[in-house]
Amino acid sequence: MPVTEVAGLREIDTPPLRGFRKVRSHLGAAFFNMGVNGFPFHAVRQGYLRACGMKIGSQVAIMRGAIVIRPEQISVGSHCIFGFNVFLGGEGGIQIGSNVNISSFCAILGGRHDFDDPTFRPILNPVIIEDYAWLATRVTIAGGVRIGRGAVVAAGAVVTRDVPPYHVVGGVPAKKIRERNPEACVYEFNYQPWFF
Ligand SMILES: CC(C)(COP(=O)(O)OP(=O)(O)OC[C@H]1O[C@@H](n2cnc3c(N)ncnc32)[C@H](O)[C@@H]1OP(=O)(O)O)[C@@H](O)C(=O)NCCC(=O)NCCS
Repeated sequence: MPVTEVAGLREIDTPPLRGFRKVRSHLGAAFFNMGVNGFPFHAVRQGYLRACGMKIGSQVAIMRGAIVIRPEQISVGSHCIFGFNVFLGGEGGIQIGSNVNISSFCAILGGRHDFDDPTFRPILNPVIIEDYAWLATRVTIAGGVRIGRGAVVAAGAVVTRDVPPYHVVGGVPAKKIRERNPEACVYEFNYQPWFF
């Protein structure tokens, strides 16, 4: 996917989906969001998302209630945790590393609109979240943003700019609070609680 800079944001240009890939992406995501996302087993939910084209590593937990758009443009490393009711808007692509924790009610937005354009044209922005990052509850990540390795985003923040590795940010828009101990980033999540 070619990536260009538009008004300070990274914008991608994705070829339109056709045929089987279009059905798999749109219908597959629709059924996931309408019910499969509430099915009480991780293996079933993740198996379904993989069948829709989403890349998911081993030992990942995606709790119930996730809403996923364009699953084939989303990749997740291993040993990650997604809390309840996360929103993954993959229109612009989402790349998530390993040992990343995305807490409940977070929203990752892979697109926006050019509101100065008379057609309100969509802009697709990739989001990258590196290993060991933690997004606390109700964080919103705007498109085009990279969350650096080990970075922490405090609850309720809206992130509109890249967050450097090991920075702790919070607020709206998110600003630096402090830095995190890089040596803490050695743990490995293996968390798939039954019925969650
Ligand atoms: C990230 C978090 C753990 C704070 O970490 P911390 O570095 O220990 O923060 P502190 O409590 O020492 O506060 C440091 C500063 O950041 C501010 N701050 C803390 N949380 C903040 C938030 N969510 N938004 C904005 N500012 C925040 C504090 O007010 C303080 O500011 P001050 O120095 O001007 O007084 C916490 O804010 C948070 O997000 N908690 C929610 C955890 C969560 O979502 N749990 C459920 C999923 S597991």
